[in-house]
Amino acid sequence: MKLFLDTANVTHVAEIAAWGILDGVTTNPTLVAKEGKDFKETVLAMCKYVPCVSAQVTASDAEGMKKQAGEYAKWHTHVVVKVPMTVEGLKTLSFCREKGIRTNCTLVFSVNQAVLAAKAGATIISPFVGRLDDAGENGMALIAQILQAWNHYRFPTEVLVASTRNPDHIMQAATLGAHIATIPYEVFKKLPLHPLTDAGMKKFMDDWEKVKKAAS
Ligand code: E4P
Repeated sequence: MKLFLDTANVTHVAEIAAWGILDGVTTNPTLVAKEGKDFKETVLAMCKYVPCVSAQVTASDAEGMKKQAGEYAKWHTHVVVKVPMTVEGLKTLSFCREKGIRTNCTLVFSVNQAVLAAKAGATIISPFVGRLDDAGENGMALIAQILQAWNHYRFPTEVLVASTRNPDHIMQAATLGAHIATIPYEVFKKLPLHPLTDAGMKKFMDDWEKVKKAAS
């Protein structure tokens, strides 16, 4: 399972990459706007830490998306072009497949959209589980359905669980066998934690102090 950080904050990428478990980063226009930094510089800085950085096109027509995809792909070999799940996006995905440009199809909310994106050659698809949960649907149920379809057809497209909101989403992504989960910084920081680990560490440290005292 690959773990991505969902952010446009380079400091956060450096921090989590230092753990030795980070496989990639996903950005989107909202995350980039939040940081207020230059988009290309941000993407290039992140490419130093991970082999897969999703950079989203902002055009809404296929010609504009294809132009941006070609430009982004030249920035760095670690760039993955993020393309929205629209008809224009499908045309762009096929174009990128022909050009050998890696893609991440974003804003996927149904099995049918997932299948279309896979058939158009998306390297990755991003179903948004949190936004489905927010809308009163079951985001992780969609992941289960998509993976079930993938078992039938063996699409090479990786399923990335996006819009995660809590550690339970990551646990469910892992147990369902999703290829990738992208995780916000605040959620990522919670993943290594367990109260029994803290209690166990305290007991070991206290007992080790006793050993040292007895030996002195
Ligand atoms: C994924 O690539 C998206 O950037 C992200 O997961 C969206 O999450 P949100 O629904 O919390 O904005």
